Amino acid sequence: MYMGKSENIKPIGFFDSGVGGLSVMKKAIEFMPWEDYIYFGDSKNAPYGTKTVDEVKELTFNAAEFLIKQGVKAVVIACNTATSAAIDELRAHYKEIPIIGIEPALKPAVELSDGGKIIIMATPMTLAEKKFKKLMDRYAEEADIIPLPCAGLVELIESGVTEGDELIQFLEDKFQDIDKDTISAVVLGCTHYPFVKKAISKVLGEKAILIDGSEGTAKELRRRLGKNGILGDKGRKGQIKIYNSLKDNKVIELSYRLLE
Ligand code: DGL
Repeated sequence: MYMGKSENIKPIGFFDSGVGGLSVMKKAIEFMPWEDYIYFGDSKNAPYGTKTVDEVKELTFNAAEFLIKQGVKAVVIACNTATSAAIDELRAHYKEIPIIGIEPALKPAVELSDGGKIIIMATPMTLAEKKFKKLMDRYAEEADIIPLPCAGLVELIESGVTEGDELIQFLEDKFQDIDKDTISAVVLGCTHYPFVKKAISKVLGEKAILIDGSEGTAKELRRRLGKNGILGDKGRKGQIKIYNSLKDNKVIELSYRLLE
């Protein structure tokens, strides 16, 4: 069904509530530099993590519709929050196109941790949804897992803050009730957070391993494209287009800066 040259040369669509999904697209570009990419960030409506599930579902369907209208061959929901709210319904609705989602990378964290605590940083919605509860149940016996909702962090990153005192203070406050010496791994369960990895390490010290889901998602994308016979032509260099619902050049500039 997906065979044929015309499918192979189509771009891959990426979506996030804002600039966060670029951390996932960056990994995909690293793995598949020959592909064309279209990114849509919904910064006008960010953050999603403190909205209702129905609101996020509607926004996610609108974004998927936009990408599909651009003629993409696959859609990556590079947002943990939108994935937990809408992925099942999206897949049921758009049966003809591969839809790849992202979820907190708890499995590698459990495998890598040395018996210490595993902290999962994510938006309030991701941590409250059924999908996450299921994931927790799967590993609850094996590790001491502590969900840490980080409302407010997406807003900082959306405004371009990826270092500095304000960010460090924000993180210090979030971690104030946790004994930092007992943490062995931190799962970055929101695609915005990899952009503040350095600041998180500064606050927690180098001992805690930081794990995000971008690599797993990019590999899954490559696997799905391969399975459907729609990988692009490896001999070329792909192009990138970035759209944002916020009609402001600053957010586009920030997007390219984060992709560097
Ligand atoms: N990047 C989104 C995620 O992975 C952030 C959601 C939000 O806008 O709150 O969850």
